[in-house]
Amino acid sequence: MTKHQTLFTCQSCGGVHSKWAGQCPACGQWNTLVQESFSSPPGGLKAEPAKLSRLNKLQFETLDSHDEIPARMVTGIDEFDRVCGGGVVPGSAILIAGDPGVGKSTLLLQVAANAASRNLKVAYISGEEAVEQIRGRAARMGLAKAPVDLAAETSLRTILEALKREKFDLVIIDSIQTLWSDAIEAAQGSVSQVRACAGELVRLAKKHGTSVIMVGHVTKEGQIAGPRVVEHMVDAVLSFEGERGYPFRILRGTKNRFGATDEIGVFEMGDAGLREVPNPSALFLGDGHERASGSAVFAGIEGSRPVLVEVQALVAPSAYGTPRRAVVGWDSGRLAMILAVLESRCGVGFGQKDVYLNVAGGLRINEPAGDLCAALALVSALTDTPLPRDCVVFGEISLSGDVRTVSRGEGRLKEAAKLGFNSAIAAPVAIDNPPVKVKAFTSLADAIAALFPVGE
Ligand code: TYD
Ligand code: MG
Repeated sequence: MTKHQTLFTCQSCGGVHSKWAGQCPACGQWNTLVQESFSSPPGGLKAEPAKLSRLNKLQFETLDSHDEIPARMVTGIDEFDRVCGGGVVPGSAILIAGDPGVGKSTLLLQVAANAASRNLKVAYISGEEAVEQIRGRAARMGLAKAPVDLAAETSLRTILEALKREKFDLVIIDSIQTLWSDAIEAAQGSVSQVRACAGELVRLAKKHGTSVIMVGHVTKEGQIAGPRVVEHMVDAVLSFEGERGYPFRILRGTKNRFGATDEIGVFEMGDAGLREVPNPSALFLGDGHERASGSAVFAGIEGSRPVLVEVQALVAPSAYGTPRRAVVGWDSGRLAMILAVLESRCGVGFGQKDVYLNVAGGLRINEPAGDLCAALALVSALTDTPLPRDCVVFGEISLSGDVRTVSRGEGRLKEAAKLGFNSAIAAPVAIDNPPVKVKAFTSLADAIAALFPVGE
């Protein structure tokens, strides 16, 4: 007999509880528990024994000629392939998460079309658009001739049936929130539905060797927790980000079982879809090398690539009792730390002034190597003194006010030289014949004394 069980699932954190409550006991959110029924299959506990395979006897179906790693499927969209770790691993499940309207459908239609034109069998299943709409979009992007199989479908059962009949190399599901499974009595887009549908698709991926890419919408208010639940199930999570008002879009790996997670792929949204940006430095630098006060160029590393990016600071008298500290593309905790070090170790106080720190082009800097650049941009803004022309900055700052050496110094300097910069203010770099002149500092106070008229 089929056993029915009624449980309550939190739509915010995905926690499952046996009793209803106004507040989720797990995450503390109010009014998020929703009643859902689960049924266990008839036959209860009887099951087939799991199949065990000896590691050293395993044969992969798709063998790379040299080492026994499944060959990756290269889609031909280089920025996408690199973030995946050099192509999509057959049988893997990938979640692409992002705000609505950022360009997920556009990106995946391009990925699908490119992969299909490389003789991969690709299906694009949309629960959001009709086939004619997808075709219209493809036509606008010049992809109407790509041999991609399209479907507008939201029923999981129907989709799985189609995918079991014909073996696809790559299946795109746009989006996971629009699917519904008739095995679950819960609304479309609810946590249980999203979890069940994603679970089935991941199972299909592993069993048939079909790679599944799922789109997941994430809203700023965290309205749909679905994608968070899916993150644990899939092999890779890529987030697609973009700042409003900028055409640039950044694809960032946040989880990857088959590759590094610090890679970024950079795209530019245009009339004909997304254009790859293979050399993002030029894009994040603003115009020309003539810098105003408060501006500094950070020589950063994103994944395997050096990227130069402009950091801008503004210091203004505060209109309120509590001065504002605002950041875009930077961590507010790290800004507070840098301000504290400037004040206590270097005697440069920002007191009752508002401080704004912005990373140009919509990029986000997570590297501690950006500390020195932010500190110098802040002092430059405070003293209204521009930094030297054609100069990049990198180095980590410790709480003691020391400037610490960072990794990949040579790569940073080479990128600076390539883009026409001729000097670097940095922590000491241990290389012979650096490609640009390095003004090395081991203390933040020394750097500030050498560059700015502080204390005069
Ligand atoms: P879309 O891929 O539909 O976003 P998502 O699937 O993440 O919700 O992209 C929607 C935005 O992209 C929309 O504002 C229009 C813009 N866009 C372009 O600027 N150029 C194009 O060629 C396309 C297809 C979309
Ligand atoms: Mg879409």
